[in-house]
Amino acid sequence: MVAHDKSLIWVSLDIKRVEEECIMAEFTKRGLKVGVTGSRELKAMPHYDFKGSIVLIRNMSAVNSIYVAAIADASGGVPVNSTSTLVIGHDKILTYAALAKRGLKIPRSFIALEDFREYEDLEKLKFPVIVKPPIGSWGRLVSVAKNSNTLKSIISHGSLLETPHLKVRLIQEPGMLGVDVRCFVVGGSLIACMERRGPPGEWRSNAALGGAARPYKPDCDVEEASIKAAESLNAEIAGVDLIFDGKGEFYVNEVNVVPEFKALMKATGVNVAGAIVDYVLWKARR
Ligand SMILES: Nc1ncnc2c1ncn2[C@@H]1O[C@H](COP(=O)(O)OP(=O)(O)O)[C@@H](O)[C@H]1O
Ligand SMILES: [Mg+2]
Repeated sequence: MVAHDKSLIWVSLDIKRVEEECIMAEFTKRGLKVGVTGSRELKAMPHYDFKGSIVLIRNMSAVNSIYVAAIADASGGVPVNSTSTLVIGHDKILTYAALAKRGLKIPRSFIALEDFREYEDLEKLKFPVIVKPPIGSWGRLVSVAKNSNTLKSIISHGSLLETPHLKVRLIQEPGMLGVDVRCFVVGGSLIACMERRGPPGEWRSNAALGGAARPYKPDCDVEEASIKAAESLNAEIAGVDLIFDGKGEFYVNEVNVVPEFKALMKATGVNVAGAIVDYVLWKARR
């Protein structure tokens, strides 16, 4: 049995990014020493003892985050976010299913599964379309297809990839290109919001691609939808991304369950790391 020390709060990380530095600094500011663990440390289940501890999951890799959460959970810990939230949030198809079940608007999507052969169906789509695998981040493998030939070649390139999930493609109606809104929800409250724009010539607005961000003032609908979106995945910490259709309507494009927030803190001045730490402490005291 590897008994961890008696820390009641753990942060699980593999690489300390600005976000994790800020989170650790917020614990220190409050005079608290927390344990640090990571996927490399948690290899020999079921030998750990996280009994009664909260394990804040900050692993960058989706797979690592899910496994660490499950192992923490198995030994009596409480991962934040929970294992099931991480599994759903890291998969766009599972996420859309959870959002749609809750009645939230999602991008109209057609799914080309791993064994997709019905290429004639693609002719019926209205182009351009957005194409993306169900698992991924930072805009990787997210493409726009202007016609059915391009779409077919994107799907057939995907079919040659080794990873089963990367063979699957979500084909979506586009919303406004080059801009989206990130809503950061912690413990059921919307704490910060920004509008992101892709850099010149880039229609994807991911902060990782170097776009510009500025604060965004959410109206009641945006606030309600982002909170509901987080709730629909039982996400205690969530980066909810909204895409607008240019006619005043919006839909939920994604729920990030180990969300980055460096760009959001810079754009809005909101202490996101502080809000996460306050939430974890509140939960630990309950
Ligand atoms: N249906 C869509 N309509 C308009 N823009 C989109 C659509 N889907 C994705 N994008 C753009 O591409 C970016 C990356 O896509 P996203 O689905 O968020 O994947 P990732 O998980 O890689 O961030 C989004 O931030 C958005 O700017
Ligand atoms: Mg995204």
